[in-house]
Amino acid sequence: MPCYGWCRFPQIKKRGIMKIISTEPSQVLASRVADALKTTIIDVKFSRFPDGELYLCANELDEDMVIVGSVVDSDSLIQLVLLIDACEGLTNQLVIPYMGYARQDKRFKAGEPVSARAISRVLSRGVDRCITVNIHDKKVLSYFDIPASDVSLARDIGTHIKSMGFIDPLILAPDDGADAFAKAVAACGSWDHDHLDKTRISGDEVRMAPRTLSAADRSVVIVDDIISTGGTIATAASMLREQGACDVFAACVHGVLTGGAFARLKASGIHEVVCSDTIERGCSGFSAADRIAEALLR
Ligand code: R5P
Repeated sequence: MPCYGWCRFPQIKKRGIMKIISTEPSQVLASRVADALKTTIIDVKFSRFPDGELYLCANELDEDMVIVGSVVDSDSLIQLVLLIDACEGLTNQLVIPYMGYARQDKRFKAGEPVSARAISRVLSRGVDRCITVNIHDKKVLSYFDIPASDVSLARDIGTHIKSMGFIDPLILAPDDGADAFAKAVAACGSWDHDHLDKTRISGDEVRMAPRTLSAADRSVVIVDDIISTGGTIATAASMLREQGACDVFAACVHGVLTGGAFARLKASGIHEVVCSDTIERGCSGFSAADRIAEALLR
């Protein structure tokens, strides 16, 4: 079926149309991917058996399927496994916008599983290729038994920061591990970037400050792949305010926001917290849909 109407991805004219199907937690993002590709999202009935087991039934499947589902908890993982099975025998591309368990990417001590590998193996079965979004560590891609690639939302965070109208913001990574990500975000506006260094002052006192630049009299945007408990960024924000930052903002790809993280961040003086829709939240301020659509057409 050819692309109809206006389409921001002309490549889609060159190949058959894909149909999108998603788990419950990823239905908004999946619909945006469908819109970006000018295709349709399939209606799925989700329910539970009386004993609590999950059930689903897809209304109509097609030959070329895109299965979208973030692993945000155990139920979402099971829904993804069930959807893949429902699409058995079709050409299936799997999109995992947020891959929970990816941070347990090695055996930290004897007796532990390599959870990222276990999940990757399970989700490889019945799938032709997999796309992730800002996966915590790209080495996890090698755990899949199928071709797997990752897309980055650095430029989407950059575009969002631009839309906020800052004058000369300082883009900060919370640690050196996120420095490359902060650099990629900063490149969108030719802004300064740096990462926070942690200095232990005493047994229970830590000081966090930008490694080389000063935050004084500047708007600071702390960027990271994940905000989980918000602990790292909340501590950093309080200290940056003490160091004279005008305003502190936080932007991440995956808003895990566990255990009251959003309130913790606001209480620490962060002006605004924004994440993408890889996990659908009230503070999802930009979408992963275009980057996913581009990757699907590649
Ligand atoms: C860690 O390596 C990640 O990139 C994040 O920095 C981390 O998950 C954030 O955790 P939290 O929000 O709990 O401080």
